[in-house]
Parts: sequence; C-alpha cells; structure tokens
Amino acid sequence: MSTRARATAAEIVLPCLDLEPAVDFFTERLGFGLDMIMPADDPAVAVLSGHGVRIRLDRDGVGDPGMLLLSGEGFAAEQLTAPNGTRIHLLDATAPLVVPDSPPIFELSRPDGSAGGVGRAGMYYRDLLPARQRGRFIASHILIPEGGPVPDYVHHHRIRFQMIYCAAGWVRVVYEDQGQPFVLEAGDCVLQPPNIRHRVLESSANLEVIEIGSPAEHETGIDRVLSLPTPDVRPERCFSGQRFVLHRAATASWQPWRMAGFECRDTGIGAATEGLAGARVVRPGGPAARGTAVAGPAADGSAAPELASHNGELQFWYILAGAATLSIEGRTDEPLSKGVAVAVPPGMSHRLTGPSGDLELLEVTLPALLEESPDEAQQAAAKGGPCRS
Ligand SMILES: [Fe+2]
Repeated sequence: MSTRARATAAEIVLPCLDLEPAVDFFTERLGFGLDMIMPADDPAVAVLSGHGVRIRLDRDGVGDPGMLLLSGEGFAAEQLTAPNGTRIHLLDATAPLVVPDSPPIFELSRPDGSAGGVGRAGMYYRDLLPARQRGRFIASHILIPEGGPVPDYVHHHRIRFQMIYCAAGWVRVVYEDQGQPFVLEAGDCVLQPPNIRHRVLESSANLEVIEIGSPAEHETGIDRVLSLPTPDVRPERCFSGQRFVLHRAATASWQPWRMAGFECRDTGIGAATEGLAGARVVRPGGPAARGTAVAGPAADGSAAPELASHNGELQFWYILAGAATLSIEGRTDEPLSKGVAVAVPPGMSHRLTGPSGDLELLEVTLPALLEESPDEAQQAAAKGGPCRS
C-alpha cells in the first residue's frame, strides 16, 4: 500500500512557545475548533481545525510561524498576528471582481512565425494583447498541434467576460447545464459566462482558438465535485447576468456592419450579456459582392469611408483571413493580414480600407454596440429576453 493510500489526515505544523494564548486566539478570534491537546499536565501540542485546514501548534516546532489567508463573507481586509507569530490575512470572499480602470491603449500584434510560448498540456499560447490593455483584457491565440484527448478538468473562471472563437480545426467541449458535449467547429464561438463549469474534452490536430477575457488576471477554480454533463439542460440559466451562447457559423445570417462596405454575422453575445460585450465576424460587402477580387472600400482611397471612432472600452480585431489596411489619423497605415490583432482605443479616428475579397475579421467590443442610439442599445439588451437564474 502506498503512503498516499494510508494517509487519513494532514496537519500544518506551526511553532508555538506558549500554547494557551495561541489556542484562545485561533478558537475565539478565528473560529477554529480544538481537536486535541497533549499532554494534559503540561500541554505542548494542540491540534485545531477549521475553514478547511488543520493546524498543529507545537512547542517544539521550528521555523517560520507562517501565514494564513482566511476569507469569509463580509470580512474586512485586515492583517493580524497570532500570539505565536503566525500572520493572518483576512479577505472578503464576496468582494466584487476588480477590473483595472486605466485608459485603454492602442495595441497591434503581428504573428512572428512561431507557434507561441508553450503553455499547459502541450498548448501554444500567443499573446494578442501583450500590454493586456493595462490589465483590463487578455487575448490569446491558442494552438494545439497534436489532436486527441485534452487533459482538462471541470473548472470555472472568475471573470466579467470571456469568449472562445474557433479559428481552425475543431474542439469537443461540455458546459454546465448546456446538455451533452458538442463540437465547436471553425467559425463557431461560445460565450463562457462567469463561473460556468466547463471542460475541454478532445480536439483535432492544429486546433486554433482565440480566447478573450476580462480582467487579464483572473482566478480559475477547479470543481472536483461536479461532473459534466449535468442532468439539467437550462440554456436560459443566468450566470451573473449572462447566458451561455453557442454561435454556429453555418446557420448564421449576415447583416450590415457599422462601417459602410462591410457586413457581419452577430454571435448573439450582445443579447446574452445584456449589452456588456459583443462579438461578430466581419467581411466585405453584401452577398452580391462576395467572390470579387476587391469588395468594400477601394484600396486607392477613392471610396474610402469617413474616419470613425468609438467611445467604448474595447474594439478588438483579429484577422482570420485575407488582408486590409488600417488607417489611423496621425499614424502610418498598418497592413493587416491573417493573424494580426489590433485594439483601437476610444477617441482614435480610424478606418478600414482595401479589404481583399476573402477578408474575415473577428471583432470583439465592450460594450456590445460601439456606435449606438439609446433605442439600439435597448434592442440589443432585450433581444434575448431577461436573464433568469
Ligand atoms: Fe476554461
């Protein structure tokens, strides 16, 4: 039998020269329970448990008295020191998610020919927003070169926004209360509402996904209790004000985009987030213009649209196919081609010109509609109906 199989309890040993005041502190101030004390005539060891940990205060213990993070509902952020020297950091478990409020910035990232840095489980990550919009957003191009089962586990993310777009290949995934596992194919995307449990099961070789989340740094929790799929199928379930979205490219309809000469397929994320965020795939022209060498505004500028700007928090583009030029007032034109990612901050005048006939770009915005009338904003929010928990 292995050592692991025999273990029935674990204790963290904290040195403690004077047991009585330390036991009082841990029980009365921090809510631990006393499990054992010995010897009776002159106690040298006390074992206490609470809040998921078991500690052993030991008069013969050596080393640093350690630090304990204790989180609870409504805790005021506070630092205490126990009589034995253990530092206690109290944290509010219900504190709202903090998103940095520094102003958005211009960022442009080009592929360098490499697959990116190696992340967990043989996945390659390319940072599409290297400055992370000063902590507001993270955007990654993720490549899995080898197909097959993905060594993932049921997990969830503490975020305010997160979506996954499948750019190439396919991936089989499963989400809490969204039915049986399904395959996300190239052109499809999902909105992952805050803390929805999910798991990646399997992928094709050379799977490419674009993942965008906010804030840039967020916690990933592992759920070791829930198994997926869950028996209930509740597509209308509300997770912190958002519904799950599975957008299928094959059945999507196209509509005019906010810039003339282009059309887009909306993913439904705007309605599912009640206007918080939006995502759409953009291509030149209308159906009649498809297949022509150059659609949309002309490359020579003769039909160049007026400069546009927005007053939102994020306008992120990732070029899925083809090419175009991004013109920004006061800056050198930026050629855009497959794999280029760009974030244009609010107030920066710009336009998209010279699209190739096969241009396709993924646009992600916060809010859902960057140039909207109050009516449009209401319509976007109301489209999917109220979010029910
Ligand atoms: Fe995840």
